[in-house]
Amino acid sequence: MLYLKIIAIPCFVLSNHVVRPDAVPMDLNVHPEHLPYMLNSITKHNKTRCWGYENDCDTEHRYLDPVCPGPGTSWAPTKRDQIDAFYDQGDFGYVKQQREEITYMCEPINQDDSSLECTNHLKFCRGHNIMINFENILNQNHPIRYQMDVLTNGQIGGKCKFHKEKLDAQCDHLSPLQSWSPELRFFTTIDQYPGKCDLIITEPTVIMKIDATVNMYHHFCDFLNLYASQHVNSSGASMFSKNINILVWESFAYESAFSETFQAFTMHPIWNLNTFRGQVVCFNDIILPLLPRMIFGLYYNTPLIDGCENSGLFKAFSQHVLYRLNIVQKPNDNGKIRITFLSRNTKYRNVLNENELITALKNHSQYEVKKVVYSGNILTFKEQIQITYNTDIFIGMHGAGLTHLLFLPEWAVLFELYNCEDEHCYKDLARLRGVKYITWRDINKFSMQDKVSNIYSNII
Ligand SMILES: *[C@@H]1O[C@H](CO)[C@@H](O)[C@H](O)[C@H]1NC(C)=O
Ligand SMILES: *[C@@H]1O[C@H](CO)[C@@H](O)[C@H](O)[C@H]1NC(C)=O
Ligand SMILES: *[C@@H]1O[C@H](CO)[C@@H](O)[C@H](O)[C@H]1NC(C)=O
Repeated sequence: MLYLKIIAIPCFVLSNHVVRPDAVPMDLNVHPEHLPYMLNSITKHNKTRCWGYENDCDTEHRYLDPVCPGPGTSWAPTKRDQIDAFYDQGDFGYVKQQREEITYMCEPINQDDSSLECTNHLKFCRGHNIMINFENILNQNHPIRYQMDVLTNGQIGGKCKFHKEKLDAQCDHLSPLQSWSPELRFFTTIDQYPGKCDLIITEPTVIMKIDATVNMYHHFCDFLNLYASQHVNSSGASMFSKNINILVWESFAYESAFSETFQAFTMHPIWNLNTFRGQVVCFNDIILPLLPRMIFGLYYNTPLIDGCENSGLFKAFSQHVLYRLNIVQKPNDNGKIRITFLSRNTKYRNVLNENELITALKNHSQYEVKKVVYSGNILTFKEQIQITYNTDIFIGMHGAGLTHLLFLPEWAVLFELYNCEDEHCYKDLARLRGVKYITWRDINKFSMQDKVSNIYSNII
């Protein structure tokens, strides 16, 4: 494994005012295609390769240009406007906007001072030398999740010039998973850093407020936003360092059927609020990343312009996770089309004649058909995405398991058997990822066994 540790921090990331925390090691163990982009973001030796959000990155040189095939332009005046709209809504253009919005909420004046920088509505922030007081956790008599009262006045702060009015003006998305205002509205200045801290965390720490970890669609919205946030913060060769801590802003011990995904981001165990119960902790380097339920965020309820697909951000995310988890594509020796049929392991939305459909597919010699149940009891999550990554046509009923489309090869097709009249969810995710999408159209060849609760469907 290629893992380079560099002790000295390169001088181009040093600012004049703030003493930076311990150097984050470079980590060049990224997808080989990403390496030049990552290095160019600091050295700029080859301007013909850039992610797309860098200041001097020409459209023609960016990592991937989304496409909007067909003559239409949706609501955009021209084709180029249509592409740009998609780029800003669901691609590195979104990252670029966030980077442009970053501004000091608390400004360092002297050496060793703290700093807090945020984007509009406090969707993303980063800080240096930030104190967080976890005393309240002692008094909570029920487990904490999706709560806005973890901190109270003065329990988060730094030694810096605080622009309180500026910060207050951005606290307008006050909701647990929409912004960091539930926490940062209590920001205050302190006289000393580290001062009275019980504990100092020197490694970079990402604090995550996560969505439902039982649901792949929602939990991957957390992972995608973590990845996007690493681009917003982009620190060159260390931007994907696994020597970072992740603190989940809940008092539950982190648990998920998809937890292996975190191995792509950190080599440390996942912390939760109980890790610091009752303590005052000083974080030398924190990121408060983009959140899963932001208004006009990624990818939950993202308003996406019609007709476009192929987001570089989503492709890079997919490659990054697959590479870091050692998921490989096997050669397709027999040249058959590999069909994976995802069978649901729940009471709802089952295909009643599933076996009949699979038998009919297997009758075609050009298909290699596999029926899978993606359940942690049967296959680990890595084993599941290994199958997905070696699939040409992925078939399944509407449900979070279809989020596996993120890990299909780029030529693949997602066939959503019935979209349960939620037509945009997986169609849009497939567009973002750049895989083809089809759904059942002929209502006459389809019957629902229990229309009221949408439980059983029978595809004829
Ligand atoms: C820069 O990148 C382009 C595109 O990948 C490549 O064709 C070219 O040879 C590179 N130039 C240098 C100097 O590395
Ligand atoms: C964010 O980027 C800065 C450099 O711009 C880096 O020093 C810091 O470690 C990064 N933070 C995290 C949590 O990755
Ligand atoms: C299988 O294919 C044969 C010949 O193509 C056809 O006659 C038969 O009805 C098919 N069986 C099923 C179950 O679809």
